Amino acid sequence: MIVDYSLQNASQIYYLMSQSIIPRPIAWIVTQNRDKVVNIAPFSYFSPLSSNPPTLVVSIGHKSDKTPKDTLKNIRESKVCTICMPRENDLEKLDKSARELDENISEAKLFDIKTKILNKLFPPVIETSAVAFFCKFYKEIALDKSKTVPIVLKIKEQYIDDRFCKKESGKIYVDYKPLARVGKSYGLINLL
Ligand SMILES: Cc1cc2nc3c(=O)[nH]c(=O)nc-3n(C[C@H](O)[C@H](O)[C@H](O)COP(=O)(O)O)c2cc1C
Repeated sequence: MIVDYSLQNASQIYYLMSQSIIPRPIAWIVTQNRDKVVNIAPFSYFSPLSSNPPTLVVSIGHKSDKTPKDTLKNIRESKVCTICMPRENDLEKLDKSARELDENISEAKLFDIKTKILNKLFPPVIETSAVAFFCKFYKEIALDKSKTVPIVLKIKEQYIDDRFCKKESGKIYVDYKPLARVGKSYGLINLL
């Protein structure tokens, strides 16, 4: 079967792509608005872009009222975000944090997602994270007629929980089991 994308609507295309490009890493993104309300949401249209410069890309859409999602709004305003990599035990809270909420309601408070400040220049890190990236806004990519906005982020610092890393011969090895998006469900990555 060959599927002509010009004959599919946006949700059919989303369904096709997200069932086929698997697994996808999940960015559990922490941002803050002007009132410092901590916003947390998962994004799986997320990928490393380059390690030189160290950049990531995440595509963020709009709320049902067509305004930018809080994460997009907060990154545009504050120019920073903290990207946490979720693990197995985060599944329930991660899934809840995808609910559409008013920007003044914090997912951290509502779903009891505990965070800690590790760098005052960036939003806090989710306490259960083995790995997190402190990122600065780099650029937006304008896609034709698209409602989704790919944001390029530059990694300034990486946090690794000491239990999940070791230093050997000048290299830092990171070893943890991230939660991934598999179609509309979730999976864990196991090494062969
Ligand atoms: C695992 C998972 C991955 C998601 N990936 C994306 C994504 O890549 N882009 C997007 O716009 N929304 C994505 N969503 C939906 C957002 O998390 C959801 O719209 C959320 O309410 C956005 O929150 P915010 O308004 O606080 O930014 C995803 C949801 C889940 C559960």
